[in-house]
Amino acid sequence: MSNYDTLLLAHLRREPSASGWTGGLQLMETVVSTQEEAKRLAEDGAPEGTAVIAEEQTGGRGRMGRKWHSPRGKGIWMSVILRPKLPLLSTPQLTLLAGVAVCRAIRRVAGVEAGIKWPNDLLVSGRKVCGILLESSLNEGQLQYCIAGIGIDANLAEDDYPDFLKGIGTSLMIERGGASINRAELAGTVLSELELLYSLYLEQGFRPIGMLWESLSVTLGRQVALNTAQGRSEGKAVGLDSDGGLLLENHHGQLFSVCSGEIEMI
Ligand code: BTN
Repeated sequence: MSNYDTLLLAHLRREPSASGWTGGLQLMETVVSTQEEAKRLAEDGAPEGTAVIAEEQTGGRGRMGRKWHSPRGKGIWMSVILRPKLPLLSTPQLTLLAGVAVCRAIRRVAGVEAGIKWPNDLLVSGRKVCGILLESSLNEGQLQYCIAGIGIDANLAEDDYPDFLKGIGTSLMIERGGASINRAELAGTVLSELELLYSLYLEQGFRPIGMLWESLSVTLGRQVALNTAQGRSEGKAVGLDSDGGLLLENHHGQLFSVCSGEIEMI
């Protein structure tokens, strides 16, 4: 077992369980994608809260078919199985919930002022430090399980970024002026925040999560644009709607929601 694994397990033993998640932890060396590993476990009936964490991904994936750069030993590459009894339409709320959990964990452990760009990119000084990918599995239109994939650039140096990510991505270590992060402590804290907020969500619904999201957002109050198949929409981001969509106000003062896609802050 590596030092990272030992420290992570020790940390998790110290943290109280918020909802009685019984899921285990699978610590792996090199995988194609932790999403695939978690999916395999979920298909085999693994319980809610089961997490897969890898040291390296050779085919890490991001939103919109992008690749996720996941070098060995430098980040937190993790996927967590959730089995909420929810209509499919509510799953965007879980995406926002995961963003809040990671943002709170980063602020607690790294002391870095991360903020959330809708729906759930975490930014520090305008550069992306974490991405979240929520994938759902359906059976006859019913939600079976979701896999929340979390990628945190913890200890990457500027040289660890390929050219196409230079100036776009950043790591917690870079933002801390070179001070590295204890990945085990951060991964453990992400899992406990996720469990805590998930049990709050199941008990009280989306409203408290939405309020936390709004307080951590770097999108609200900004003018944003969204390109969709239907065309380009622009407006000022003013809040979340009850499904977790972003509420925009156009220059006529009319409100409208956007529920998917990638916004640009203009
Ligand atoms: C994004 O595009 O912003 C989402 C990135 C999600 C990356 C994480 S890393 C762990 C998990 N495994 C993957 O292959 N992707 C997610």
